[in-house]
Order: sequence, then structure tokens, then C-alpha cells
Amino acid sequence: MAPDSSTLSSICVGIVCIVTVRKVLPWLYTNIIGPIFLGSRIDFRRFGAWAVVTGATDGIGKAYAKALAKKGLNVVLISRSLSKLAAVAKEITDAHNVQIKIIDIDFTDGPQIYQKIEKNITGLDIGVLVNNVGISYLYPEFFIEYITRYPQFLRDIISVNIHSVTNMCGLVLPNMIAKKKGVIINLSSTAAVIPYSLLSVYSGTKAFVDKFSVDLQTEYRNQGIIVQSVQPGFVATNMAKIRKSTLLAPSPDTYVASALKTVGIARQTAGYLPHALLQLRIHLLGAVAGDQMARNFIFNFFSGMRKRALRNSEKKK
Ligand SMILES: NC(=O)c1ccc[n+]([C@@H]2O[C@H](COP(=O)([O-])OP(=O)(O)OC[C@H]3O[C@@H](n4cnc5c(N)ncnc54)[C@H](OP(=O)(O)O)[C@@H]3O)[C@@H](O)[C@H]2O)c1
Repeated sequence: MAPDSSTLSSICVGIVCIVTVRKVLPWLYTNIIGPIFLGSRIDFRRFGAWAVVTGATDGIGKAYAKALAKKGLNVVLISRSLSKLAAVAKEITDAHNVQIKIIDIDFTDGPQIYQKIEKNITGLDIGVLVNNVGISYLYPEFFIEYITRYPQFLRDIISVNIHSVTNMCGLVLPNMIAKKKGVIINLSSTAAVIPYSLLSVYSGTKAFVDKFSVDLQTEYRNQGIIVQSVQPGFVATNMAKIRKSTLLAPSPDTYVASALKTVGIARQTAGYLPHALLQLRIHLLGAVAGDQMARNFIFNFFSGMRKRALRNSEKKK
């Protein structure tokens, strides 16, 4: 017997209610209501006196280091170049009454770098770790072309984007667990959650960071540890090759000011409302027009970038 129209409309109302409660309200809470009304109240100093930021001399990492110093935390800056580290340390101490420690290491070097980091951070009361360091392709490219031309560079992407995150968590978590508090912010990317062909190794590493963070959060949330996966869209940095900030590609400072308000509120976050809306648009395109349509849309976008990059490198020859 076919259901009558009142049964069908009850089912429809039920589905709308479930989707609203399970999807729409959490989205509104983590992207708008939480960050605006609750986020800025978090006192990061209650987790410990020090923050550690990897990739801290430029872009998003530098913005996190400055923002956390502004909130009164001492900061350990980790990056490759000693002169850039010293310059950022001076910039921060000129502006804020905090201590800065610098560690110069290259995350593409072997596992011994983590002994050096451990030696330098032992004894510090670390409350916040920002696993920010990351590198991406020089330009979008098919996997086989890229691995043939730049095999070492692909290995480096994996070392910098994945090994740094797991090893740094391994270094700071034991003390956080012992004192039952701590914040770990891992920089994933929108690349982890929408189609991202022609940058497949980069997006794969960022998907790792996202999944690792969520499962780590489940393992340690009962011990007072917050683990967050941050998934930016484009931010105006060297990596993105964007010089001028816009609403969709904000400055690192604007992005980080927004993302910090989501700590403790969102386990996974785009960190910035226009980026959350961009993710939503791609997901809706997939839901309405089909997943393949969303994949084609992004593939065509990056194909255009690839062609322009190859044309430019031809011209330079
Ligand atoms: N910008 C975006 O649009 C965007 C979007 C999504 C996700 N993200 C993620 O956000 C994070 C930061 O990106 P960003 O755009 O701010 O990058 P960025 O401007 O290129 O800055 C990268 C930072 O990492 C350091 N670094 C690079 N390679 C290193 C290595 N091998 N060893 C040690 N330090 C190294 C750099 O130090 P040096 O000064 O020594 O080079 C610099 O301080 C990355 O994980 C990225 O995947 C960025």
C-alpha cells in the first residue's frame, strides 16, 4: 500500500529536522555563532607558558606566532633560516613583553632534527603547539610528470607535511597529558576536504593531517587536550603565490585572528567564514550536480594554472 500524502510530508519534515540538527546547526555553531560569541574568550595561557610554532618565519606560521605572543605566550619559533628567525624574534619582542626561543632546522633533513628540537624545548611548559610548516608543488602537475621531474621534492613534501606533524606531536604530547591540558593546532588545508587533482601528493598529505588530528583528538580529549585540524583556503602568502590580500585570500594576520577564535569550538575548521562558505559551495555543487562535476570544475581550474605555469617557464628559457 502506497503511503498517503500526510505520511510523506511527515517523512519530509522529519528528514529536514534531522539534517538541520545534524548538519546545519553544527555548521552555524562552528563557523559563526561559536567563533563570534565564545571563541575570543579562550585564555591560551591557562594551557602553559609557551607555544611552539613550526614554519614560523613567514605566512600563516608567523601570524600564529605573533598572535599567540600578543595573548601573552612565550614562543618557540622553528624554521630553516637563522637570519629570518632572528628577525621575527626581534619583531615579536619589540611589540610584546614575552620570551622567544629560536630553533633553526630543516624539516627535510633526517629524523635527527627531532633530537635537536627535543633538546631545545625540554623543560619548557608548553601549552600550545602549532604544526604549521608545510610545502606544496611548484605548480599543479600530473603525478607521473611531477615524480619524474622532481622525485626528491615529492619526498620532501611528505617529510615536511606529515613527518613534522607526527614527530612534533610525539615530542609535546607526553607533558600535555601529564598536566592534563594542551592545545595542538595542525594546519591541514581545504585541499584535504574538496577535490584537488594535479596537486595530489600535497592534498594527500593534508588529508593525512586532517584525519590524524581528528583521531588524535578522540584519543586524548578526555585528558584535557584539544587537537584541531585547520583547513584554510587560499591565504595571501608565498606558498599560495598571492601578494595582495582579498576577502577570499586574506592576509595571514586576518586569517589567524579568525582561526584562533575557533579553538575549542571546532575540531575541524576552515578557520575563516569565506573559506567555510567556499567548502560548502563545492560540497553543494557535488551534492546537486554530482561529485564528478565538482571534480571536473577543480581539475579545469588547476589545469589552467598548470598551462600558465608551463608557458611562463618556457618563456624564461
Ligand atoms: N597559504 C595558503 O593558501 C594555504 C592554504 C591551505 C593550507 N596552507 C597551509 O598552511 C601552512 C603554512 O603555509 P604558508 O602559506 O604560510 O607557507 P609559507 O608562507 O610558504 O611559509 C612557510 C614557512 O615554513 C617554513 N619552512 C618551509 N620549508 C621548511 C623546511 N623544510 N624546514 C623548516 N621550515 C620550513 C618557511 O621558512 P623559511 O623562511 O625558511 O622558508 C616559512 O616560515 C602550510 O602547512 C600550508 O600547507 C596554506
